[in-house]
Parts: sequence; C-alpha cells; structure tokens
Amino acid sequence: MIEVISDIDEARRRMASHRRAGLSIGLVPTMGALHAGHLSLIERAKTDNDRVAVSIFINPTQYDDPKDLERYPRTLTTDLRRAEDAGADIVFHPRSEDIYNDDYRFRVTESEFSRELEGAHRKGHFDGVLTVVLKLLNIVSADRAYFGEKDWQQLKLVRDMAAAFFHPTEIVACPIIREPDGLAMSSRNIHLNKEERRLAPEFHLILTGGSSTGEMERKLGDRGFVVDYVERRGDRIVGAVRLGKVRLIDNVEA
Ligand code: PAJ
Repeated sequence: MIEVISDIDEARRRMASHRRAGLSIGLVPTMGALHAGHLSLIERAKTDNDRVAVSIFINPTQYDDPKDLERYPRTLTTDLRRAEDAGADIVFHPRSEDIYNDDYRFRVTESEFSRELEGAHRKGHFDGVLTVVLKLLNIVSADRAYFGEKDWQQLKLVRDMAAAFFHPTEIVACPIIREPDGLAMSSRNIHLNKEERRLAPEFHLILTGGSSTGEMERKLGDRGFVVDYVERRGDRIVGAVRLGKVRLIDNVEA
C-alpha cells in the first residue's frame, strides 16, 4: 500500500530510515493531476532506485495568475492510485503553510536565464519553482530527482541550481510523453474545448516542420494560435502559444 505523508518531519524521518537501511531513493516532484507524462518519470525512478517518493504539491509561489492556480485540477485520490500503479512507494503531500514556514521571505532567484522565455511571460515563476524544488530536494535528500524535458527551461534551471549550490541529488532528465497525435501531455490539456483540442497538435507539427522560427510563428498565427515565443536555443526549438484560455508549451530537437 502506498504511504501518504503530509508532515515534513515525518517525511524526513522516513527517508532517513530508508537511507540507513542502504536503500536508494528517487524523487519525482509534481503538482498532481498525474498523467502518462508524470507516470513515465515515476517508472524511470523505479528502475533506478529502491524507493520512489512522489511529491504532490500545488506550489502557489510559481503562479503569477491566481485564476490559473484556482483552475489547477485537484485529483488526489486518482493520483494516489496512479502513482502506486506506476511504482511509487511514498506520496509526499505537504501543506503550503509548512513548506512556506518563512512566508516566502527566503527564495532562490536566478538572474539571467530565468528572465527569458517562460520567465519573460510569467513574472516570478522560476523564483517559485526553484525555491520549492530546493525545499523538496532538501526534505527528501534523494539520490536522484526526475524532471521532464517537457519543461525544458525548468529542467535546465533546476540542473544549474543543483550544481550552483552543490546539491548532492542527481538531476535526471526524462523525455517528453505525447498523445498519439503529437500533443505533449499536460494537465492543462483538459481545459481545451473540442475545437482547440483538434487544433492543438498543429503546434508540435509546426515546430518539427523544419522552417525558420519566424516562419513557424507566422504559420501558428495563421492557424489561430496566439504566439508567446518560438525560439531556437542551443539544440532545441522552444515555444509557447495560447489557444483560448489555455497556454501550451513544447520543445523539439532543432
Ligand atoms: P508538473 O507540471 O506537475 O510536472 C511535474 C514533472 O512532470 C515535471 O518535471 C514535468 O516536466 C514533467 N512532465 C509534465 N508533462 C510531461 C510530459 N508530457 N512528458 C514528460 N514529462 C512531463 O513541473 C512542475 O509540476 C512544477 O513546476 C514542479 C517541478 C513540481 C515544482 O512545483
């Protein structure tokens, strides 16, 4: 039976006892509403580690739009079953007031890359992400923590933060899981109406279409997407678009 722990001290004690027993620990940080993308991280963690902890915490500090936070799907009972089926041993489900025992007085700020791409469109987003990830890494003290390439900028920033602060947890990248039509899985996809859902896979199709990023932006605009950005960064093309009220992000190999 999967174990659900909300109390931070209890989570630390449980992890310490696993470590004393010589068991390796994998951590998969999530905000819940688990789908096949999240489950692929849990499965990967299970193949690499003796014990897998999944954190489910809807992190208020990474939302600049309170409506977005309100709308976030909350599906704990289903999440617990899915996490267990995918191989999780522990779900860590802390309370917001315990995670932010300092009222967010202390935070992690990255001053360059976090201001670009997603950061340019979501003010303070990455401060919230990096701060909560550091707290989770510190609480769980896992051997490895798993992040999806779906959130490519997040993954890079978390990796760089772990290196900058000499954090001993290894950051492991996992590939993007897509719907059969190419749409990257996301908890936001359920907010797409029928017409938007039909259109959504064009985003991935156009990113992989091989034209210049300017041309991609034009094509997306023609199809009815509102483009936040499409940019080439190193070996990736990263993009963010809006379809109605839903914001989609994706990235592909350039
Ligand atoms: P969340 O959106 O729940 O995603 C949790 C993890 O699942 C992230 O590492 C994300 O990249 C990965 N993921 C989501 N969709 C995926 C897909 N289609 N394929 C592969 N991996 C996918 O990202 C967050 O939560 C938060 O910012 C968090 C890191 C938990 C901090 O609050």
